Amino acid sequence: MDTAATPEFDRSIEDIGNSVWLEHTNTTVPDQVKAVLFYITGLGLTRDPYIMTGLENMWVNIGRSQIHMPARPVAQVLRGHTAIVQPDRAALLKRLEYVAPKLAGTHFAYKDCGDYVEATCPWGNKIRVYEPDTKRFGDVILGMPYVEFNVPPQTAEGISRFYSQVIKAPAHVVDQPEGRAARVKVGHNQHLVFRETSDPIPEYDGHHLQIYIADFSGPHRWLKEHGLITEESDQFQYRFKDIVDPQNGAVLYRIEHEVRSITHPLYARPLVNRNPVQTNRNYRPGYDSGYWSTPHES
Ligand SMILES: [Fe+2]
Repeated sequence: MDTAATPEFDRSIEDIGNSVWLEHTNTTVPDQVKAVLFYITGLGLTRDPYIMTGLENMWVNIGRSQIHMPARPVAQVLRGHTAIVQPDRAALLKRLEYVAPKLAGTHFAYKDCGDYVEATCPWGNKIRVYEPDTKRFGDVILGMPYVEFNVPPQTAEGISRFYSQVIKAPAHVVDQPEGRAARVKVGHNQHLVFRETSDPIPEYDGHHLQIYIADFSGPHRWLKEHGLITEESDQFQYRFKDIVDPQNGAVLYRIEHEVRSITHPLYARPLVNRNPVQTNRNYRPGYDSGYWSTPHES
């Protein structure tokens, strides 16, 4: 056998770990009209046309992920920011400029920060919109590459231990100019980031995130043994809220996780994404759909 002709691949690059997909975050909104203006008209995302199509909730598609927004009297605000990858920054800025007067008097704001555009929803949720970058985000053109949470000082190590030892999701601590953080791989080209800050952190208001995990019962067993399961939703889903240090049980941070098995009926459901640049004035036949990934380089 001619071994010189056999290509060598680093197979570990494709390892994901137990969490295979960060599908959605969930923050309540008190006004769907303002939510449509910000997330659909402003950010240019797509409302799920199949599920939650009424006034009680709204699911917004971002490539293969979503933001869920149940209608409730009080808005929830994620304590950190959500990152989105989306092409065409100039078009994004134009859309945000267009909705600005309609969202006057709310927390809405946006600014071009160079590396990303930071857009703030009418209730204060911060969204960072990055342009596609294969080195940073892989082949994603439209997607949710990470969600970052602000956490108290000296919690990153323990949070990293929780995800790697309990959830079995690869995690490590990084020291960066913006602060020390636990970085957790929760899907293909997807991370949760827990960034230490000495700034005050608002009280937890009940928002949540949802992940699909392959070994569904293993983390459940540990969480149940430690009294951390907060909801046995159904056969395919459970929830927990506290992130604890597996070394000593100390509660480090609270964010509800909706944990689903990959046998859940909603797993890998195809999501519709539009091309937000299309209008009735500049319409180009055949360009209605948004693409969420680039072709693989061979
Ligand atoms: Fe959810």
